[in-house]
Amino acid sequence: MRIVITGRQGQIARALFEADSALGVEVTTVGRPELDLAEPETIEPALRAASPDIVINAAAYTAVDQAESEPEIAAKINKAGAGAVAAAAKALGAPIIHLSTDYVFDGAKTSAYVEDDPVAPASAYGASKLAGEQAVAAANCDHLILRTSWFTLPTARTLCERCSPLPKHEKRYGSLQISMVALPMHRILLRQLFELLRTC
Ligand SMILES: NC(=O)c1ccc[n+]([C@@H]2O[C@H](COP(=O)([O-])OP(=O)(O)OC[C@H]3O[C@@H](n4cnc5c(N)ncnc54)[C@H](OP(=O)(O)O)[C@@H]3O)[C@@H](O)[C@H]2O)c1
Repeated sequence: MRIVITGRQGQIARALFEADSALGVEVTTVGRPELDLAEPETIEPALRAASPDIVINAAAYTAVDQAESEPEIAAKINKAGAGAVAAAAKALGAPIIHLSTDYVFDGAKTSAYVEDDPVAPASAYGASKLAGEQAVAAANCDHLILRTSWFTLPTARTLCERCSPLPKHEKRYGSLQISMVALPMHRILLRQLFELLRTC
């Protein structure tokens, strides 16, 4: 089985690529310039060339604060780009796992979010990711949407570095201590992804 992940240098793409021996399957990444979410016409040829049995869409516009000043670019990549990845996966007969985020919620809930909680993004990034989920669903391919949060590789910039100075969404980081306790999230997420892949 061949798993093709969009995004080359992304944290989640790299973690999955490096963990492929744990999966016992072939994992490959495809990214810019061959596959550019901002250039939808590049997506199907790039995925076709990679011959996926399963696509994991881990590429995205992820600059949360920057998205406030360039919401159109965030939307283009996270909505139109994700929709084009899903359409390409459908054309190739491959199911897709699309990575999304807890930013589709407004953060007001005081307990853990569940799948059918009402969405209410409070940021341009969150709105673009929600639009991406909807575009993936509208492509009518076999898909799973995985909303995750705080995936940080041990080698990546630390959480404290990433939060300092605290960005516009300061309120979201009110529970900084809780988030830090939740690390290392990457192992949990990878385990869950592996379980999902077994069901595909
Ligand atoms: N990390 C988290 O805490 C977290 C939390 C919730 C959800 N997520 C979601 O999980 C997914 C992966 O996150 P991540 O942390 O791995 O992100 P990341 O480290 O910021 O990497 C983003 C990836 O997207 C690629 N990319 C950006 N613009 C692109 C474009 N126009 N065309 C093609 N590729 C493009 C980058 O390409 P290059 O390799 O060329 O740089 C990179 O591989 C995203 O959908 C994100 O929304 C992440």
